Amino acid sequence: MSGVIGLPEPPEAGVSALPAGTFEGVAVVVTGGGTGLGRAIAIEFARLGADIVIGSRKPEHLDAGRAALEKVGAGVLAVGCDIRDPAQVAALFDAAEQEFGLPGVLVNNAAANFPVPAEDMSPNAWRTVVDITLNGTFFCAREFARRLMTAGRPGSIVNVGASYAWTGGPGFAHSAAAKAGVKNMVETLAVEWSPYGIAVNGLVPGLFPHEDMTADIQQNLARTHDKDAAQPAMRVGRVRELGWAATFLASPYARFISGHTLVVDGANWQRRSLTNPTVVPVREQMNRGPFAP
Ligand code: HXC
Ligand code: NAP
Repeated sequence: MSGVIGLPEPPEAGVSALPAGTFEGVAVVVTGGGTGLGRAIAIEFARLGADIVIGSRKPEHLDAGRAALEKVGAGVLAVGCDIRDPAQVAALFDAAEQEFGLPGVLVNNAAANFPVPAEDMSPNAWRTVVDITLNGTFFCAREFARRLMTAGRPGSIVNVGASYAWTGGPGFAHSAAAKAGVKNMVETLAVEWSPYGIAVNGLVPGLFPHEDMTADIQQNLARTHDKDAAQPAMRVGRVRELGWAATFLASPYARFISGHTLVVDGANWQRRSLTNPTVVPVREQMNRGPFAP
């Protein structure tokens, strides 16, 4: 189609928009920092001089994250932590403080998700996703903020969200509701904690395919054959683009930004048609037969 060029490619990996050393002497905690977008975000903080603490459940994820961050030359601590458990969250911050001193940035990136029609979803499936994505995010934010307030130190929280917080997410009722909670929490906590020097913001990725995506999510993505053509940007996101946004939001150059959720998705979540497409029920899209209790 003539004139359709899409949004340009960003600068190459390894360059930064912020001055070198912006996060020198700052410890940054990234939950789920061993894989995918969390790791990409952690790498951008590391490139700017931060010491990085990654926390998640699986040793193989922690090992992969540690190795990638060490390549950048960062100080790295990888801690086994299930963010659903407030005691494990406290232990994560204890370990971080012991290694690098009180962290100055928290990136709440860890989340859980799989597609399932709402009527097929078990109570435990609902609970698991909400517990990780919403409750876990709150437990980490609370632990971080209490420590900063006790020390009288400022800091910054970036909560990773999803655009179906606004639109709803057919096939993702649990995750969409949890992410709506995360977005709302950004707004409340920003008002409660900005007086104590703690900025709270949200960061919403669009489609950022990566090799660590779970089988559930990869299978879902495979439903769209040409992912670039499905984006108004005519391309998917490059993970470094999210890293640049996260580092900016947590940086001194964003000091007056709090309570904001920044969407980095090339306009993918906006309506894009003159008329709405035909409705196909979620269970049909997932090739499931009629509902049977
Ligand atoms: C239906 C499922 C299911 C599936 C699990 N469950 N997978 N139900 N369809 N595909 C149900 C289980 O049957 C169980 O319920 C309950 O969920 C808990 O499952 P467990 O395996 O016991 O849970 P756990 O070991 O804690 O693992 C959590 C997990 C897993 C969420 C199920 O996928 C995980 O560890 N995910 C972490 C990484 C992740 O999800 N990343 C995706 C982020 S991407 P019952 O009733 O049987 O006990 C993202 C993109 C957003 O968020 C934007 C997209 C557009
Ligand atoms: P991912 O690679 O599957 O990352 C999820 C991370 O969360 C994993 O590192 C996982 O580590 C960790 N995690 C899950 N449950 C945990 C728990 N109970 N305790 C501690 N850590 C836990 O997925 P991703 O694509 O990078 O997603 C990262 C963030 O971006 C999520 O918030 C997601 O909702 C959001 N997002 C992604 C996209 C996208 O296109 N990729 C789009 C919109 C939003 P362990 O398994 O080791 O615990």
